[in-house]
Amino acid sequence: MPFNGHPTGPKIPTVTPGFPTTRMRRNRRTDWSRRLVAETRLGVDDLIWPVFVHAGDEPQVPIPSMPGVVRHSVDALVDAVGDAAALGIPMVAVFPYVEPALKDAEGSNAVDPDNVVCRAVRAIRAAGTEIGVMCDAALDPFTSHGHDGLMRGEEILNDETVEVLVRQSLIQAEAGCDVISPSDMMDGRIGAIRSSLDAAGHGHVQIMAYAAKYASGFYGPFRDAVGSASTLGKGSKATYQMQPSNSDEALREVALDLAEGADMVMVKPGMPYLDIVRRVKDSFGVPTFAYQVSGEYAMLRAADERGWLDGDRVILESLLGFKRAGADGVLTYFAVEVARKLKAG
Ligand code: PBG
Repeated sequence: MPFNGHPTGPKIPTVTPGFPTTRMRRNRRTDWSRRLVAETRLGVDDLIWPVFVHAGDEPQVPIPSMPGVVRHSVDALVDAVGDAAALGIPMVAVFPYVEPALKDAEGSNAVDPDNVVCRAVRAIRAAGTEIGVMCDAALDPFTSHGHDGLMRGEEILNDETVEVLVRQSLIQAEAGCDVISPSDMMDGRIGAIRSSLDAAGHGHVQIMAYAAKYASGFYGPFRDAVGSASTLGKGSKATYQMQPSNSDEALREVALDLAEGADMVMVKPGMPYLDIVRRVKDSFGVPTFAYQVSGEYAMLRAADERGWLDGDRVILESLLGFKRAGADGVLTYFAVEVARKLKAG
């Protein structure tokens, strides 16, 4: 029998005496008691809101596979981000919709300081909104083939891509972005981006690495949103994103990104990968985030719209699950409506 306390002292059983002395339901009987024993809480500070911006004048262009999510014009985005800040949401993640005419095999628009991401970031900064602004480092919204990197034949080039990601990160930092989030899964990009940011005087810009990012079918609606679904076609990202079968490998990815200078790490997608979130948090104890991706959003939204699930309940329950798994925060398209709900109590 295991014992507590002094080795020579009396043996104190650590086994909980059983029923009927112990009744687990006693703590659950009243609302106040349930609140008192709650182990995990979801608050507005846990939310990161991913948003889409396009260069046109249309304030809001709906995304059919993500009902309730839109592509904003730059002006409309500034207002929307203002609303998010007023609700207390700590950070937004800005993603571009790039017109097909601006895409090429090199993703050149990604390194143009006048691209729609940089213009949006400058506009948010000019409005004086106090909120964190995060931008992806990845080429897929900008490439004519929809891949995150440069290609030679069928191959996705690693080191050549990293050079472009560095330039993309620098112009985004220059525009006023607070956090760079490399989502491309090239090897060595965190270290290259970190040292270039430092050399360019952007030592305060943080890096949230998409450290364990899986080649997932759950990104489908996002690719509609940024306009890369048609360019990528049946193309697979399996040579750079992780295979869903692996978990130890995720720890190696995270360890490398941390060693290269990542300030925060992310696991993506979210709900099917909560075991990875838990392992990462337990192994490293660093700020760990999860991305409730577009396909997860679409599933919950669609089931709610059909009356198959109670959206109000399952959205909050899904986000609490991330917290319970060890995440410090969640990127979620539900951020604004959840913030409103939490405020209303
Ligand atoms: C770009 C990127 C993707 C997502 C975030 N950044 C798509 C992809 O890797 O194909 C997905 C986000 C989502 O599905 O909500 N590399």
